[in-house]
Amino acid sequence: MLLEEFIRGIPKAELHLHIEGTFEPELMFEIAKRNEKKINYSNVQELKNAYKFNNLQEFLDIYYAGANVLIEEQDFYDLTWAYLKKIKAQHVIHTEIFFDPQTHTDRGVSFDTVIRGVHRALEDGSEQLGISYKLIMSFLRHLDEASAFKTLEQAMPYKDWIVGVGLDSSELGNPPSKFKNVFTKAREEGFLLTAHAGEEGPAEYIWEALDVLNVIRIDHGNRCLDDTALVTELAKRQIPLTLCPLSNLELQVIKNLKDYPLKKMMEHHLLVTLNSDDPAYFGGYMTENYVQVARALNLSKAEIVILVKNSFKASWLTAEEKAQKLAIVDNYANVN
Ligand code: ADE
Ligand code: ZN
Repeated sequence: MLLEEFIRGIPKAELHLHIEGTFEPELMFEIAKRNEKKINYSNVQELKNAYKFNNLQEFLDIYYAGANVLIEEQDFYDLTWAYLKKIKAQHVIHTEIFFDPQTHTDRGVSFDTVIRGVHRALEDGSEQLGISYKLIMSFLRHLDEASAFKTLEQAMPYKDWIVGVGLDSSELGNPPSKFKNVFTKAREEGFLLTAHAGEEGPAEYIWEALDVLNVIRIDHGNRCLDDTALVTELAKRQIPLTLCPLSNLELQVIKNLKDYPLKKMMEHHLLVTLNSDDPAYFGGYMTENYVQVARALNLSKAEIVILVKNSFKASWLTAEEKAQKLAIVDNYANVN
């Protein structure tokens, strides 16, 4: 079996995915039309042509503008359902997705509208597509801690639907320590914690996410390689890093996938996973991320299996669920 075919078919888990980042231009135009909202581009092609980014902020500006057309619960359902159908075709069997409530509540769409639409689609995906899921609420770090606290408050009636909280948006100048109190409160309330750190920001931000916020997972974390003591700590504690290769390429975090330090990270025994981040904007979902990295770094089937298994190990499934999914992966690897 060709490696690409092997990658396409292997049962995978995704751990770093922003639901707003799955908004494909075609669906965006459709939803804009029914909500009578204007998009700054006259057609799908013109919008796609704008997807050229020099850094994270240039992407975020377009990403937040795109999310503006989402108004009704059904819009959030359709967005999430489209993503689930896409990953079903790519043999993703478990996904842990972020949603950014403040992107919507700040423009007058209620928290309830957003979460009900997303959650209903996830439930349907679990029942009809067999995709298990976890929902993670992410705070926007360019906003203040008071706004994050307000969002945490809004989430309380939905505690059973949200397993964890994260931290995303503009990293530089917005260190994890800015959110110390709200993460402490979220932890007391029983939420699991993760944070984007070391995507564009320095290794110091990863230390802060670990030591000040007490996260148990790091989203991205590429910059850990600048700090030997940090690499040792991450490896010792087996803190998962949710890497996003095509995102890093499109946001100019790396120049070329051939320079992607994945093998180096694996040699350091880091618990690395591959993910798509914002696939509608970065040119690929899970399969494309794996395939392009595998091609660039000449990965073997055995290395692909390690990466896929890392994702299930790093997931927020129970030990029993992990064992069950890992057995499915082993079975696939043994017969292919
Ligand atoms: N929000 C969506 N994608 C993001 C990324 N890659 N980094 C920070 N915030 C984000
Ligand atoms: Zn992200």
